[in-house]
Amino acid sequence: MTRSSLPAWQALQKHAEDMQQQSIKALFDTDSKRFERFSVQRPGLLFDYSKQNINQLTMALFAELAEQCQFTDWRAKMFAGERINITEDRSVLHVALRRDTSQPLLVDGTDVSQQVAEQLAKMKQFCQQVHSGQWRGYTDKPIRHIVSIGVGGSNLGPEMTTNALKAYKTSDLTVHYASNVDGNQIADVLDSVDIETTLFIISSKTFTTSETMTNANTAVKHLLAAAGDKSAIAKHFVAVSTNTEKVTQFGIDANNIFDMWDWVGGRFSLWSTIGLPIALYLGYEQFEQLLQGARDIDQHFQTAPLEKNIPFIMACLSVWNCSFLNARSQVILPYDQVLHRLTAYLQQAEMESNGKHVNFAGDTVDYNTVPTIWGEIGINGQHAFYQYLHQGNNIVPADFIGSITPIRDIEQHHDILIANMFAQAEALMCGVSEQEVRSSLAKQGKSDDEINLIAPHKVHQGNRPSSMFLFDKITPYSLGQLIALYEHKIFSQGILLEVCSFDQWGVELGKGLANNIHAEILAEGEVSGHDSSTRSLINFYKANKNQS
Ligand code: F6P
Repeated sequence: MTRSSLPAWQALQKHAEDMQQQSIKALFDTDSKRFERFSVQRPGLLFDYSKQNINQLTMALFAELAEQCQFTDWRAKMFAGERINITEDRSVLHVALRRDTSQPLLVDGTDVSQQVAEQLAKMKQFCQQVHSGQWRGYTDKPIRHIVSIGVGGSNLGPEMTTNALKAYKTSDLTVHYASNVDGNQIADVLDSVDIETTLFIISSKTFTTSETMTNANTAVKHLLAAAGDKSAIAKHFVAVSTNTEKVTQFGIDANNIFDMWDWVGGRFSLWSTIGLPIALYLGYEQFEQLLQGARDIDQHFQTAPLEKNIPFIMACLSVWNCSFLNARSQVILPYDQVLHRLTAYLQQAEMESNGKHVNFAGDTVDYNTVPTIWGEIGINGQHAFYQYLHQGNNIVPADFIGSITPIRDIEQHHDILIANMFAQAEALMCGVSEQEVRSSLAKQGKSDDEINLIAPHKVHQGNRPSSMFLFDKITPYSLGQLIALYEHKIFSQGILLEVCSFDQWGVELGKGLANNIHAEILAEGEVSGHDSSTRSLINFYKANKNQS
């Protein structure tokens, strides 16, 4: 049995057939209260989803689906620390990282709140030591540069956040990231820092990820080439990991380990000690603000009725568009330059979480689960792929994200930026009819022949759904809210679709395969085995490498 056998799912399928006959614009014509009905306001935030192809029945049926999926029970289980990551037999407790740590939260007899409080205190103290210049490098100089080495969830959150919030930074540190095993990246980073004043943070939940370990080893060699003495490592390397044994084997001082726990998923971990680059670069108080913003959304998600619950609504819209209306991708369009790494972050958050094809029991589901997530800063997208959004023959639902007050207000820029965002969302929904095109061309004095030739190309069908987030301003607090909204959307989506959101077996597969081929590349002679394409590619590479 999959979700599609539930009565509410079947009712939604039937309802989707009706809604596909409607235009979103017409829904506005028949409901003067549509914006009020399909938008939610919270202090500092407006979420408008009235430009989606839904009506009151759609949302009522999703409320029924939620009930038939025991949605509220699952939500309570997550917040209580039950092992809802069933394939890895783990709790899912990123929410514990930003809750009030004075309130105990017992998981298997251990108070995780206390564990979190201890690590936060350690981070805070470390930030003070680095910022005050008390923490010194091997030549007794204070730290000026942070190099964070990690990949996936151990990179994207800190990188996206420090990029977004650099206007709020209170430290005079620089921050750099190395995630790719492509040596060009770490080489560039190492070229741009002064090793005597650089602190490396090796972030890896498992401390076995080969890309991260390769970069970490390169960084150690670089330090030792300059310092000539292993004692320098303790002054320049700290680690964030659950795997203390591997970290100490690697050579990092046990005192320099910041703990994390297996109940924090990598892609939900920026609130944990994985956020150390954020706290160091922006300042610990800013990191706390980020946690506070997320906590606000945790409370909203737990307490708001479903019809006003933003993450739940976001999840319903995604399931509606993807599983019922057959939209295969979703575009994220931030109209805020500082959010330029948000799409990359959300790609991992949503696609690694819900890009699955079996339900909790392991049965193949007979519906689309998640769309492909893609996107770009809105204005850049307008001059690149919006043509496809407006006139392509695939409908791509869009999330627009903007703010009322820019971080840096440069004369008229912000009004122009936001005017573009509103205009694009309106145009996607309303389109331009053939009649409008023809009358506009006629007004320009075009002949009938010219009009017949051009008109079909200028028609915009419209009826392309979008949602819009309008924040007062991007701040550490509101960015915390934004990220937590998407996190809880992803959880809700997983429950509605019945997919295990918190494992990533599809990624584990690739990790093992690459190790085997790496060994074959290093070995003498031609490889045998594999399919003929892979075998020939490996042999071609081996025959030709080191020749230029
Ligand atoms: O990308 C796959 C993944 O397993 C992610 O889930 C994780 O965030 C990333 O690898 C890095 O893993 P680790 O923190 O263990 O190095």
